[in-house]
Amino acid sequence: MTEKVQVVRGGQVRAYVLAEEHEDGSLLLAPEPVLSAQTTVPAGDGQAAAVALPDLAGILQVRDLTVGYGPKTAVDAVSFDIRRGEIFGLLGPNGAGKTSTLSAIEGLVEPQSGTILLDGIDSRRHPTWARARMGVSLQATSFQSELKITQIVRLYAGLYGVELTDPQIAEGLRGIGLEGEALKPFKQLSGGQQQRLALFIAVVHDPALLLLDEPTAGLDPQSRRQLWARIERIRQEGGSILLTTHSMEEAQAVCDRVAIIDNGTLLTTETPHDLIEKHRHDPRVQAVAHGEVTLEDVFIGLTGSEIRD
Ligand SMILES: Nc1ncnc2c1ncn2[C@@H]1O[C@H](COP(=O)(O)OP(=O)(O)O)[C@@H](O)[C@H]1O
Ligand SMILES: [Mg+2]
Repeated sequence: MTEKVQVVRGGQVRAYVLAEEHEDGSLLLAPEPVLSAQTTVPAGDGQAAAVALPDLAGILQVRDLTVGYGPKTAVDAVSFDIRRGEIFGLLGPNGAGKTSTLSAIEGLVEPQSGTILLDGIDSRRHPTWARARMGVSLQATSFQSELKITQIVRLYAGLYGVELTDPQIAEGLRGIGLEGEALKPFKQLSGGQQQRLALFIAVVHDPALLLLDEPTAGLDPQSRRQLWARIERIRQEGGSILLTTHSMEEAQAVCDRVAIIDNGTLLTTETPHDLIEKHRHDPRVQAVAHGEVTLEDVFIGLTGSEIRD
């Protein structure tokens, strides 16, 4: 096993590997092969500088995450990883625990237990640093309804520490087809326009991980396709995405891998294709399939047919 050593030089932490250990106790250090970018987070008061050594494999690691509200356990020891550049879908019926899982990752609810590593950073110990690396679009995105679009963009970009000039805002709005709406209040936008604005704002600080809670719920087919294209583009530009959805068509169209959650428990994590292959002969799936087994058949087979509100 290679031993890693961190040495602080000129305020920067550098990683070395132990190349040779001599009999007199001296060590020969060699620079660690560069696998991926290493981020140094400045020290806070009385704390040692935290060094984020991103795991090559994952942008997000969730381990044994448990979230409860009083006696209710909404998320029960859930574990999953999201790879860099991956679009990962969290599927589950109403009340399954999707929003609670996202809220814990976003730092909006305090988990009862578990660890969340985002870009190598322990988000429970360093919530501010972790949050700076993520972009969030909440399930019911609603900005201050009286504010004009340009004001909302400037306000939220400012919250992320991004200063946008007027021409930059105009260009951004043109990019999402809202150049004509710049001076309108938020409440006058259509659902699709609101969702485009929410996504634009969520990525204004170029986050490593984008979290989208039911981003296409209630959108018409055109707006939905447009949103899929935007998500795909964000991935091509190096982003990773965690989204929740009820739409199996959506999961199949955009997700590299999906996890099915029900009653707070993660049932399975697979590519959509492998999920179908793995469960195609399950009697619960066969019982609900009409002909060729679809992802929705597997979903219903595994989570049951009863209606959840
Ligand atoms: N703030 C809350 N207080 C109490 N119970 C909650 C709260 N938020 C969610 N729940 C409950 O936790 C469970 C999971 O909810 P949620 O994470 O919103 O599921 P999903 O997003 O999959 O629909 C549900 O039973 C829901 O009623
Ligand atoms: Mg939800």
